[in-house]
Amino acid sequence: MTRRGFSALSVVGLRAGAAWAQHAAVTGPAPADTVWLNANENPEGPPPECREAIARAIAEAGRYNHRVFPVLHEALAKLAGVDSALIIPGAGSTEVLHCAVDAFTTAARPLITVWPTWEMTRDLAAAAGRPVVKVPLTAQWSADVERLADAARKARGGVIHLGNPNNPTSSVTPRAELQWLVENLPADTVLLIDEAYIQFVDSPAVESGVRYVREGRNVVVTRTFSKLYGMAGVRVGFGCAPAALVKQMQPFRNNVISILGARAAMAAVPLGDAFVSARRTRRNHIRAALCQWLDQRGFHYIPPNANFVLIEIGREVSEAIPRMLAEGVAVGRRFDGVERWMRVAVGTEQEMEKFQAAFRKVVG
Ligand SMILES: Cc1ncc(COP(=O)(O)O)c(C=O)c1O
Repeated sequence: MTRRGFSALSVVGLRAGAAWAQHAAVTGPAPADTVWLNANENPEGPPPECREAIARAIAEAGRYNHRVFPVLHEALAKLAGVDSALIIPGAGSTEVLHCAVDAFTTAARPLITVWPTWEMTRDLAAAAGRPVVKVPLTAQWSADVERLADAARKARGGVIHLGNPNNPTSSVTPRAELQWLVENLPADTVLLIDEAYIQFVDSPAVESGVRYVREGRNVVVTRTFSKLYGMAGVRVGFGCAPAALVKQMQPFRNNVISILGARAAMAAVPLGDAFVSARRTRRNHIRAALCQWLDQRGFHYIPPNANFVLIEIGREVSEAIPRMLAEGVAVGRRFDGVERWMRVAVGTEQEMEKFQAAFRKVVG
């Protein structure tokens, strides 16, 4: 193979891996002091209680620790406010999203997904030979619930997938619309609500789908410790669903999660609502300052609900990304349908200053 052929191949390889490993989506060398605003992580990282729990768990790491997992289920159930039979843990919420696609879609039962969105379920369904139906978001960037239900009815959808808030738009689907969708779901379609970012939402118009799980509806809700809790590298998340759906998803799990992840999650639960709201307030304060700066400069963005903002930049983001990186700022990758928008995660105040300086230089 020629050298040129080889490098073209490696670029293709990186792009194919983009949804799975977001840092890998940043092509080209990154300056040593790069600020990483490309994967919607939390710069605060793991809370001290979780760091200590992880350190202590090293002593237990010689064993499989199966006796610990029922305790983990109990802790996650407490966090979600459901019975522990309704919990399915995962290596991040990604594993649970995988389980749902594996369990509830087939070659004859497509994945119906909002679009644009984080492409992981689409990629997995496509790789497994399951058809995918993409339903565009509304003009307000929320899930188009009527079209989703209609598509599920017509195509015999196995799963309807939506993010609340949605990535990359940072937009939400209000309570009334979600409720309409739950009430109008075809009888054997599962609604998969990805709530990776729900703890950042301030709007009283938004409600978690866990309520529908408690009611025994055909709903799976996924949550994660990767975002607000700042533990993306620990790989721990969970889903909650009626026990019958948990039972169907369970065989598709990779395995149990590591004892380090389990102990970190169990240390996070007692931190309670005060911790969640303090982190939300700090993050959203920095987010508001970014939005104000964008307003002053006349840039349009989607009013954000998560720890990232999608900004209309009026040019191809795929050209802007490497130029931002050369300035030491890694921003989100390009998403279908919003090719002229840039997604940036909310970092520290210093990181956002660096972002603003690079943005002024590259975008204007
Ligand atoms: C919308 C959405 N859902 C789920 C995830 C997966 O997160 P994790 O597997 O770390 O819980 C991400 C990661 O960026 C995401 O953006």
